[in-house]
Amino acid sequence: MQFENKVAMITGAASGMGLLSAQKLAEEGAKVVLTDVNADAVAVAADAIRGNGGDAIGIPVDVRDYGQVEAAATAALEKFGRIDLLLNCAGGAEGRMLKCGLPFHEMPIEVIDWGLDVNLKGVVYCCRAVLGTMIQQKSGVIINLGSVTGIQGDGYGAVNYSAAKSGIIGLTKSIALCGAPHGVRCCCVSPGPVLTRPGMANMKTRLGRAAEPIEVVNLILYLCSDKAAFITGTNYLIDGGRTIGGMD
Ligand SMILES: NC(=O)c1ccc[n+]([C@@H]2O[C@H](COP(=O)([O-])OP(=O)(O)OC[C@H]3O[C@@H](n4cnc5c(N)ncnc54)[C@H](O)[C@@H]3O)[C@@H](O)[C@H]2O)c1
Repeated sequence: MQFENKVAMITGAASGMGLLSAQKLAEEGAKVVLTDVNADAVAVAADAIRGNGGDAIGIPVDVRDYGQVEAAATAALEKFGRIDLLLNCAGGAEGRMLKCGLPFHEMPIEVIDWGLDVNLKGVVYCCRAVLGTMIQQKSGVIINLGSVTGIQGDGYGAVNYSAAKSGIIGLTKSIALCGAPHGVRCCCVSPGPVLTRPGMANMKTRLGRAAEPIEVVNLILYLCSDKAAFITGTNYLIDGGRTIGGMD
């Protein structure tokens, strides 16, 4: 129960790695605040964690709306009294998420905005909403989800996703600098392909497979834990060797 008495707020918690992180943190004793733009799914996810004996609330939040983000942080504080962990998992490539197959130079500006707003501005908003609480507590950990696309770039419908995920690395360093004098850490985890959906199996890696979601979540949980107490400001690639180079 390494997260007993810890309170974790997780964005994008209705599916994929956000949901699995919330479930694993709850299993390890954390009280979890699940947030997601998908209101029905986040309510079902929080119910299921409570059904398994965990302590969870589900809050509908669009990370592009600072008012909603701040209200969720306030609700977490009112319910549980503190916020120890923030996991910024909400995100996705704009072309896929908004079903837009056009090349970048033909993409509607709304699609471009979505890519930047969810994947970068939303993370800035969430950091802004909880950092003051963590500074007051003199402890806290923020984990941001990057991507190999932020290292390699992408010319196939994720140009803004790539820009946002690169930006997350700089944001992580800056939040780490803001938090370090107050005992607050911030790290970035940049996965290669992860099997949160079947299509990711087609992306090549040196290890010849995509990651199981639990492999990435295990790294996230390690960075959240006291075992990682001397780690901050760092970006962790977990990509099966994809970025070593030489892959087409
Ligand atoms: N799956 C991969 O292969 C992969 C690879 C690299 C990086 N990542 C990153 O890891 C993170 C999690 O990926 P996943 O595959 O588990 O995701 P997922 O697609 O399973 O879940 C993303 C969640 O974000 C939510 N979301 C979308 N827009 C939102 C908004 N405006 N406000 C709040 N929530 C919103 C969705 O409803 C969904 O529940 C993402 O940031 C993603 O970019 C994933």
